[in-house]
Amino acid sequence: MRGQVKITRYRTGNPNERLATQDVPKNFSLVFICAYLFPSVTGKNPIIAALDVPTAEAALKLAQEIAPAVGAFKIGKELFVSAGPDIVKKIRATGASVFLDLKFHDIPNTVAKAIAAATRLDVQMLTIHTSGGGEMMRAAEKSAQDTAKAAGSMPLLVLGVTVLTSSNNETLAEIGCEADTEKQVLRLAQLAVKSGLRGLVCSPLEIAALRKILPASVQLVTPGIRTGTEKADDQKRTLTPREAMQAGASWLVVGRPIYAAENPRAAAEKILESIY
Ligand code: C5P
Repeated sequence: MRGQVKITRYRTGNPNERLATQDVPKNFSLVFICAYLFPSVTGKNPIIAALDVPTAEAALKLAQEIAPAVGAFKIGKELFVSAGPDIVKKIRATGASVFLDLKFHDIPNTVAKAIAAATRLDVQMLTIHTSGGGEMMRAAEKSAQDTAKAAGSMPLLVLGVTVLTSSNNETLAEIGCEADTEKQVLRLAQLAVKSGLRGLVCSPLEIAALRKILPASVQLVTPGIRTGTEKADDQKRTLTPREAMQAGASWLVVGRPIYAAENPRAAAEKILESIY
């Protein structure tokens, strides 16, 4: 198919230890594809650095500094609202992959159109709320596929967010959901995959349970990563980068342990070294 490359990942480079075969966007950087193909040789870089800074200038400065040590950049609500689509274009212009974390949750038609716009902006991953339901998720994935096909590129990876890690059983009860958070996470994850999504965002402590019930090809993107050396902050349920990868994470979203470090580049390099 035009605009995509089929690649197979091996755990150790040994063909008998195949992890998954999947399509990767042709417009992902060569370094990304090499790292993905030969993790034992190049060390796949699964770190997505969160650019949780308020201005385009700060984001670009941080991105330039840490680019060689990370696999992609996450642009969230704060940066996107203040710097707009232009910051996505500027980060893409450096050759880096972009994860647009705006967590869409709306009527299916609106979400589909937002995803078409994000595809035109050339982002590689974005998030939607699985609680928007099956119809919304099917519309989201269809939009990603159709818009990419029309553009001759690869569909961006639509990631489903299940239960926010800031929610607990009381939060769910408050909005009329009787299931406990764990059950609700598994239920929404299964609905997401049934609706065609190829990836999910999950807390580190959910990875193992999700890996048991989901197809191996589903990409799990995990925030809440801590090395154990940072000062305490609002992430309560954390794993180290290595623990999260061993549990089955595909990508690690790392914010403060990198951008709030005295030397962000050195912090990112240390995290990467700790994984392999
Ligand atoms: O600074 P820290 O490493 O905690 O940043 C984690 C990033 O992942 C932030 O951008 C945060 O918004 C995001 N995130 C999260 N928990 C979720 C979903 C996203 O921490 N459940």
